[in-house]
Order: sequence, then structure tokens, then C-alpha cells
Amino acid sequence: MSTTKKAVQHSQPTGSALPGNRIITLDEFIIRSEKDFDYATGELTGLLRDIGVAAKIINREVNKAGLVNILGVADSGENQSGDIQQKLDVYANDKLVECLQNSGECCAIASEEDEGIINVPAVGSKQSHYIVMFDPLDGSSNIDVNVSVGTIFAIYRRKSDPSGPATIADFLQPGSKQVAAGYVLYGTSTILVYTTGRGVNGFTLDPSIGEFCLSHRNMRIPNSGSTYSVNQGYYSKFDLEMRRYIDHCSDQNYGLRYIGSMVSDIHRILIHGGIFLYPATRKYPKGKLRLLYECNPLSMIVEQAGGKAINTQLKRILEMVPTELHQRGTIAIGSPDMVDELKAFIERYSALPI
Ligand code: AHG
Ligand code: MN
Ligand code: MN
Repeated sequence: MSTTKKAVQHSQPTGSALPGNRIITLDEFIIRSEKDFDYATGELTGLLRDIGVAAKIINREVNKAGLVNILGVADSGENQSGDIQQKLDVYANDKLVECLQNSGECCAIASEEDEGIINVPAVGSKQSHYIVMFDPLDGSSNIDVNVSVGTIFAIYRRKSDPSGPATIADFLQPGSKQVAAGYVLYGTSTILVYTTGRGVNGFTLDPSIGEFCLSHRNMRIPNSGSTYSVNQGYYSKFDLEMRRYIDHCSDQNYGLRYIGSMVSDIHRILIHGGIFLYPATRKYPKGKLRLLYECNPLSMIVEQAGGKAINTQLKRILEMVPTELHQRGTIAIGSPDMVDELKAFIERYSALPI
């Protein structure tokens, strides 16, 4: 590796070099950061912009969800508000696919909502080097009760020859190979947070100008926090080591915060510190969350912000080699000291050899 490349890899995120006293839009930030990127062809820039556009469209629909009955959706044949709200998953999926297909900046897509991969036809003579994976709407059961939901995405460089179609092997790469990852949280405000491996930056949507504006520069997760996040309703179904750790959190007077949308829980943890757990249950003996669409991108973000992400076998999430597209896994993710503390509980109480 050349000295020049090393110097680039260890540089601060470009965001920190941007002026601090004026509005910086997501598009400006992405373009300015492009020169930091090893393969600066503009493709990655285009992809991030496509995702930003899809996020604005999804945001508009998510915000209208509560108006479904008032706006008379029944007339259009979709008479149950529950139906249309569930369809937001599909709507978000379609918009992301559409925005990515239109520009042809990626060669293939995989989504939590689709069984197989979707090859994207080339636009003109452009050969794309990237694939994109996403969870279009995370926490979608929150929609009908007006609680936060999100979108999660991951971008990889393809491994297959760019002159042919993408293959499943392009998607079964470990999370450490992500070139970019991010999420959009449709919350009290809408925020897009992403990393290209040089720190994490957040952009809040200003609805008055329709732009994501840099609001959270070079985000760093606190080393520890005072909350833990787990579906404690499953307590009796967790393994002993997990129950012991949860007891410990309670003994320490940590607060319990669990939204049911991983994006929302992770966003809070990024800002205030804490730990998020989704261990094995009897219903999901391998864990519930999807490695490719949820665990990997959020682990890259959290690690880039100074946190840690492991599974309950104590393996670093980003080093897991996936064997299938919709693979599930366990996860413990968040402030580094809290993940280390959990690790000690697993080492001490686990019945299985670690
Ligand atoms: P999705 O809506 O994409 O299916 O994801 C829901 C996920 C995750 O966001 C959340 O943390 C978890 O499922 C909640 O699961 P439980 O209801 O089992 O706690
Ligand atoms: Mn999800
Ligand atoms: Mn989903």
C-alpha cells in the first residue's frame, strides 16, 4: 500500500473541513467528500444522492400515513387503513428500487422485501461497480401508532466482472466490505445518517427547503450509557447469560428503552450511549434480525462512531461471512464499554463453549 493511500485513509472525514457557520446540504457534502474516496468515479456519489431522493419521497408518504382515512383512500380501493399502512413497506421498497434503477449507478439490488436479487439494466453504456442492499421500512409495525420508523442501506463494490450481470456472491460479502452504509430515521424530524468509512455524519431534513442539511457532524458514540434496549417481554426465552446481563442492567438502575424499530433505538444509542440486544429466542433460535439488511449496515455506522457490534457467540458482526441473502443473526451493539461488559457476562455464564 502506498504512503499516499495511507494518508488518505487516516484523514479526518471531509465534513470536519467544511465551514461550520452555514447550511451544508447532503448533496454538497457528498460531492465535497468524493475526493476522499478511493474509487472516486462519481458512482458512489450518485448512489448516495439516489438514496437521499428516495428517502424524501418515503418521508412524504410516512408523514401522510395518519391521514389515510381522512383523505378517503377507501375510494381508491384500499379501504382498510391497516392495509395501506402495511403497504408502506412495499411503497418504500418500490421507491428505492425505482430511484436506483433510474440512474443505473448500481448494477443490482437486494431488499428485505424481495426474495431474490434484482439486476439493474445498464443505463446507456455505463458499467456499474456497486450493489445496494436495504431494509426499506424498519419497524413498520410502528406506522399505525405514529411511532418512528426507518430505512437502512448498505453499499458494496461488486466482485463479479462488471461486463456481466451481478451474482449472488456479490451480495454474500462480509459487512467489513461495505463501502458505505446508512439509515434514515422518520422521527420527530427526519434524519439521514451515513458513513463511507471515514466517520459518521447526520443530515436533518428541513421540510421548508426540502433538503437534508448537515446537523450532526462526525458523530461519536459515548463510551457508556445509562439505558439498555431489548424486548424484555422475551426474558424467559433468553439464555442464562442474557438473563444475567439484563438483571445486571436492572441492578445498575439502567433505564429500559425499546422502540421496536432498530433504527430508532440505534439512533438514540449513537447520541446518548447504551446497548441494543436481540439475542436468540425460542421462536428465533438464530436471532431475528437480518444480517445483510439490518445488522451489517448499523454495525458499520456504530463502529465508525467508536462503538462495537458482536453476536452472542462473541464474533464481530462485520466479520461474519453470510451464506444466504435473508440470513438472520443475533446482535449486541452500542457503546464499547457496555458491549465489553456484556461479553464478560457471556464468557462467564454461557453454557456453550465460546
Ligand atoms: P422490520 O419492520 O423491518 O421487520 O424490522 C423490525 C425489527 C427491528 O427493527 C426491531 O428492533 C425488531 O424487529 C422488533 O422485533 P420484536 O417485536 O420481536 O421485538
Ligand atoms: Mn427491519
Ligand atoms: Mn422492514
